[in-house]
Amino acid sequence: TSTENFYEAVGGYETFHKIVARFYELVADDPVLRPLYPEEDLGPAEERFRLFLMQYWGGPHTYSDQRGHPRLRMRHAPFVIGPVERDAWLRCMRVAVDEADLAPEHRDQLWAYLEMAANSLMNAWV
Ligand code: HEM
Repeated sequence: TSTENFYEAVGGYETFHKIVARFYELVADDPVLRPLYPEEDLGPAEERFRLFLMQYWGGPHTYSDQRGHPRLRMRHAPFVIGPVERDAWLRCMRVAVDEADLAPEHRDQLWAYLEMAANSLMNAWV
């Protein structure tokens, strides 16, 4: 219906779980991205990112209940994120989003946001 938000329109928890789980599967095998993640177990990072995205798109506010204000630039400051890291991140995310089979207008909206956000989190230019 017209009052449904994006989170609900794309299928809620199940859809976000699917996209983020696939993304982290690809991160686990990615030679650029995997070394950036400080923890051996990617599970907790996967959960933080899933909760953030769900909240951003109108789902439950569990992310902020647990983590407070996202402050994503600050939280990414410890990691060198240049064009190579951004491109690797977007490449994995592209696969994960495409495999979710969203309606084209939802996919495009989600993708535009992720691309913008990835660019805004760069903190190195080599
Ligand atoms: C956390 C890398 C882009 C959202 C992290 C972490 C790394 C990382 C290494 C720490 C993992 C952890 O939680 O322990 C990157 C790289 C990016 C990128 C290389 C490439 C541009 C993004 C984008 C978003 C995002 C575009 C949002 C749309 C998050 C969130 C966390 C996180 C929500 C957890 C923050 C918290 O501690 O609560 N990222 N990230 N990241 N990232 Fe990214």
